[in-house]
Amino acid sequence: MAIHPVLRLGDPRLLQTATEITDFNQTGLTTLIGDMFDTMAAEDGAGLAAPQIGIGLRVVIFGFDSNPRYPDNNPVPKTVLINPKITPLSDEKEDGWEGCLSVPGMRGMVSRYCRIRYTGFDATGTAIDTVAEGFHARVVQHECDHLDGIIYTQRLTDTHKFGFTEELLDSGQLASDVCSE
Ligand code: NI
Repeated sequence: MAIHPVLRLGDPRLLQTATEITDFNQTGLTTLIGDMFDTMAAEDGAGLAAPQIGIGLRVVIFGFDSNPRYPDNNPVPKTVLINPKITPLSDEKEDGWEGCLSVPGMRGMVSRYCRIRYTGFDATGTAIDTVAEGFHARVVQHECDHLDGIIYTQRLTDTHKFGFTEELLDSGQLASDVCSE
């Protein structure tokens, strides 16, 4: 397994639509997923999408343990989600600060559905069908956006609520260093 460099905003590969996995036994899928977990851990992220390491496939990973720095974010088990589909379970949305490993050192305010159902497949091709809310739902929406070439900076609710983490913390706009990506 290996840690890969994470592509940064401006790299055109981040703007492409990723391709569905059709063969769960395809060569390299296991290695890709292992590398994604290694890369996410090295970057201390809460999620990662394959296009962020330059692989245009519809594979995302996410998950994080409970962390006293993020008391509002309940732990989410480490998950591999392939060919995901998201269905909002209500029209209700909420604003929240997001960060992205492809936009290092910055945070922006994004509105996301509060409650979603997501389906897809795990690494072995077994179906996944999960209801999520709060930060869990936010991370899944953020990661799945990457598969359609969408970065959170395209979804800012207010361009005034976007900046460097350090300045947002110093000025009190960010209460704590919210979990990124
Ligand atoms: Ni991201």
